[in-house]
Amino acid sequence: MAGATSVGDALRAAAPRLRASGSRSPRLDAELLLASALGVPRAELFREPARALQPDEVARFEDLLGRRVAREPVAYILGRRAFRTIDLEVTPDVLIPRPETETLVEVALEALAAMPIAGPDPEDEPLALDVGTGSGCVALALATEDPFVRLVAADIDPGALAVARRNGSRLDLARRVEFVLSDLFADVGERPFDLIVSNPPYIPADEYVALEPNVRDYEPRLALYGGIDGLDFYRRLIPGAALLLRPGGTLALEVGAGQADDVAGVIDAAGAYESPERRSDLSGVPRVVFARRRGPRAGD
Ligand SMILES: C[S@@+](CC[C@H](N)C(=O)[O-])C[C@H]1O[C@@H](n2cnc3c(N)ncnc32)[C@H](O)[C@@H]1O
Repeated sequence: MAGATSVGDALRAAAPRLRASGSRSPRLDAELLLASALGVPRAELFREPARALQPDEVARFEDLLGRRVAREPVAYILGRRAFRTIDLEVTPDVLIPRPETETLVEVALEALAAMPIAGPDPEDEPLALDVGTGSGCVALALATEDPFVRLVAADIDPGALAVARRNGSRLDLARRVEFVLSDLFADVGERPFDLIVSNPPYIPADEYVALEPNVRDYEPRLALYGGIDGLDFYRRLIPGAALLLRPGGTLALEVGAGQADDVAGVIDAAGAYESPERRSDLSGVPRVVFARRRGPRAGD
């Protein structure tokens, strides 16, 4: 970035370096990193493109650029990611929330809205479980957008759970979201849930080795790898959820591209759910498979 003297110059010099390193959004990345280096909102860059950068600002920007050129995701460099209406802390312990996961939140909100109105007792309010909560994005978006739902947010990874818990406290949602360290359902308690949501690890073995370096080398394998065919978690989650859902309660699962029919097949095979439905994301990819629990709960 030799000779960069102004905000505009710095951005113009950085974008080609980022593009050459494989970034698909070099200009946006440069703007986000420069805004972070200057400690200002991104919009501020456009107000004063001729503002001269101080040497310490240039040094900070160079440091962030170097990390990005090495393919570190922007969200980890900034330590933040927006998801629906909330802003979340993210660290390398958690998957960076993806836009397609917003479809899972939409399906879950619709399922909650269709539930009978709760009585005056807080215990009557709907109870939802988020399995593999990661940053807490799904659970915390649900708690933000539905003022009544109470949630249990579970993850097997203590580092991820610590991030989710901090996000819950910062968003002032800790009263309605309980964070639990648990291998799937092992430690979530015996209580019946009205809704179970999950965006489980679903990348199959052949796709995992071919992932782009910014994902494979930085995001947690535990959050991504779903076994040889990518379906390991669905085979455990779907029968397990049937034991914890109330009759009429909804199971909603995010799936990878091309997995919807297989996951619907696992739901059918469990014999405990009504016919599964599918919902596509904004790219038209079937992204969420969901079904209502039928009959009395097993063990009743
Ligand atoms: C694909 S990430 C989803 C994270 C977050 N819900 C999201 O949508 O961004 C899957 C999450 O499942 C967690 N996980 C993996 N195996 C698990 C298990 N056996 N029990 C509970 N959580 C698990 C991972 O730690 C990771 O946080």
